[in-house]
Amino acid sequence: MGRALKYDIPGEDWRRSVDELAGHGWASLFGEPGMPVRPVVEIGFGRGEFLLELAGKHPDQAFVGVEVSFKRVLKMARRLARSGLRNVRLIEGRGQVVLGPACEPASVSEIWINFSDPWPKEKHARRRLFQAPFVADLARVLVASGPLHVATDDASYARQIGALLEAEPGLENRFAPEPYRREVPGRLHTAYEESWREAGRALHFFEYRGAFESRRGALESRRSALESGGGSSGPAR
Ligand SMILES: C[S@@+](CC[C@H](N)C(=O)[O-])C[C@H]1O[C@@H](n2cnc3c(N)ncnc32)[C@H](O)[C@@H]1O
Repeated sequence: MGRALKYDIPGEDWRRSVDELAGHGWASLFGEPGMPVRPVVEIGFGRGEFLLELAGKHPDQAFVGVEVSFKRVLKMARRLARSGLRNVRLIEGRGQVVLGPACEPASVSEIWINFSDPWPKEKHARRRLFQAPFVADLARVLVASGPLHVATDDASYARQIGALLEAEPGLENRFAPEPYRREVPGRLHTAYEESWREAGRALHFFEYRGAFESRRGALESRRSALESGGGSSGPAR
């Protein structure tokens, strides 16, 4: 039997809900309504070491960790309280929901998605986080030139991620013409990444940047042309 979960938070509890975000914006999560807060967001932080280390290195930047597992959010809330960091908020929920309609366009400065579950069986592939509507939301919420970092150890999922990112005209590949790199010097390692490295698995690191704002006009006319059945289906690059 596993150890009993500890529910007490030894300090400030930085957990927030997606309802607080919807309609009020990121600033309300940080107690600064009216102030422009454009956080760095990590989706699926797992044990949270990566987010804690990144936030510790940038104490003046706001960070938001999104994680679907109640247990992982609770454990992270305890670690965060003990860390003394004040620039991180946690939301228990699905990344697709938090970065969906609840999230304003061009309101996130950077996004990290590290080793999201690959669901390798064909019949489970629809459970993968990376689907076209989610990728369109990533492009929509990122500020112009805001970085999007994605990592996976799964070759088939890497092909799917690469195809979806490349097809999204609101994103630009910073590693072009390569779809991804095997190593990115200086990048912090995550807990899962350490295991995959020890097991000798090949890793895939994608890096894109938001281009939606700078191309908003062209993209919106292309999308409305597509919706009305006219226009080219090629990317508006
Ligand atoms: C394979 S683990 C990777 C954890 C961590 N990023 C790392 O690299 O060590 C994937 C994590 O994503 C979380 N997750 C899965 N689907 C999610 C979703 N739709 N939204 C947010 N988190 C999700 C899981 O609960 C799990 O903690």
